Amino acid sequence: MDIVQIKDKRFGLTISEKEILNAIESVAQRINADLQDKNPLFICVLNGAFMFAADLMKFVTIPSEVTFVKLSSYEGLMSTGKVKEVFGLTENLSGRTVVIVEDIIDTGKTMANLIESLGSKNVAEVYVATLLLKPEAMEHTVPLDYVAIEIPNDFIVGYGLDYDGYGRNLRAIYTLIP
Ligand code: IMP
Ligand code: MG
Repeated sequence: MDIVQIKDKRFGLTISEKEILNAIESVAQRINADLQDKNPLFICVLNGAFMFAADLMKFVTIPSEVTFVKLSSYEGLMSTGKVKEVFGLTENLSGRTVVIVEDIIDTGKTMANLIESLGSKNVAEVYVATLLLKPEAMEHTVPLDYVAIEIPNDFIVGYGLDYDGYGRNLRAIYTLIP
């Protein structure tokens, strides 16, 4: 399946499932080595990171926990500069080593907001694990501890990422054909 049609657009295969899983395994091995005595809490950012988190956790062998958050944009709060609200975080994060698990860092705005919202929770340290990074699109300074794959500044779908809600179920990553 080298080309997929999603709604009105066509996307071409760019990163195979095997390549994705290899990159995730490498990241997990680094996490296993770096955080083995830290009992990390992985925080998976829904919806996009669900598939990455599932495969990442299968390669993580150290004692750890996983939880999930959902972010929503709130236009009404934009004037305060706080555009993302975090839902679902009920764990006590005090003193914890946290690893945020995200699908993609594009401008970095989402991640910067999420890290800021963790600021009040007294966490010991925050690491970021992202499946994808678009280095050319970065506008915000965010920690980039565990980056599985760097990609050009093109729109992609698959492996959790969507176009208008569709395409998340694809096992590989596909790039928009202009
Ligand atoms: P940022 O806040 O600009 O870093 O954007 C991050 C969010 O935008 C991600 O969590 C994705 O939901 C979405 N996003 C960014 N680039 C893409 C893409 O190429 N395809 C699908 N979603 C994307
Ligand atoms: Mg996302």
